[in-house]
Amino acid sequence: MKPFLSLLLSTIALWPTQTISQATAPQFNITALTTVNNASRLECWTLPSTPQFAAGATSYEIGNFSNSFIGILPARTYSNATITHPRQVQFTIALSGLIHIRTPTSGLPETYNEAWVHGGKYGFLIAADTVESGSVQGHETEFPSDQPTWLAEFPTVGGLVPEHILLHVGPCGLGDLIGV
Ligand SMILES: *[C@@H]1O[C@H](CO)[C@@H](O)[C@H](O)[C@H]1NC(C)=O
Ligand SMILES: *[C@@H]1O[C@H](CO)[C@@H](O)[C@H](O)[C@H]1NC(C)=O
Ligand SMILES: *[C@@H]1O[C@H](CO)[C@@H](O)[C@H](O)[C@H]1NC(C)=O
Ligand SMILES: *[C@@H]1O[C@H](CO)[C@@H](O)[C@H](O)[C@H]1NC(C)=O
Repeated sequence: MKPFLSLLLSTIALWPTQTISQATAPQFNITALTTVNNASRLECWTLPSTPQFAAGATSYEIGNFSNSFIGILPARTYSNATITHPRQVQFTIALSGLIHIRTPTSGLPETYNEAWVHGGKYGFLIAADTVESGSVQGHETEFPSDQPTWLAEFPTVGGLVPEHILLHVGPCGLGDLIGV
């Protein structure tokens, strides 16, 4: 099965339905774990998908997936208990809880090597730093919340890395996510 998923965003809070238009809708940005020079690093990517408008919703195509699943991490799960490479290229949506990611071997300055991703509408990531991508040590992940962290995982069909534009190195900041 290759379910097709588009991401529906509520238009209520940030983008009043009255004023949004195809010309003004922002592009979708996403924090990515990727491999450069055999090391995992954090980047902020823009997905080149054109926002669509239908039935009161703004939607962004994010591609096709196979073997999607939900992962539940217990409260206070630390890096000594978690894997360091994604098994496959996959989108992750944190539904609840907190993900703390570190990429200490990236070779980039320290400020680019850490991301805190809260469950909710900005809890969107893609992990592409697989063993096959050449990342030797991968990344460190902790789930330090007092509550379990729920993750929806969407491996891409064929392990393909989706088309993207590099916005900057380091994770997306709030300013990259909240729109114009
Ligand atoms: C997803 O699958 C559909 C149906 O097979 C196809 O038309 C579409 O181009 C695919 N999208 C991507 C991004 O590969
Ligand atoms: C894992 O790390 C946490 C936080 O640093 C620590 O409290 C815990 O004892 C460690 N567990 C093991 C099995 O080393
Ligand atoms: C480094 O990455 C390349 C692919 O980019 C891969 O062929 C090579 O095996 C990797 N080196 C190590 C030590 O894993
Ligand atoms: C994504 O980044 C682009 C380029 O900086 C920006 O114009 C756009 O508003 C951002 N999208 C969101 C949803 O914040």
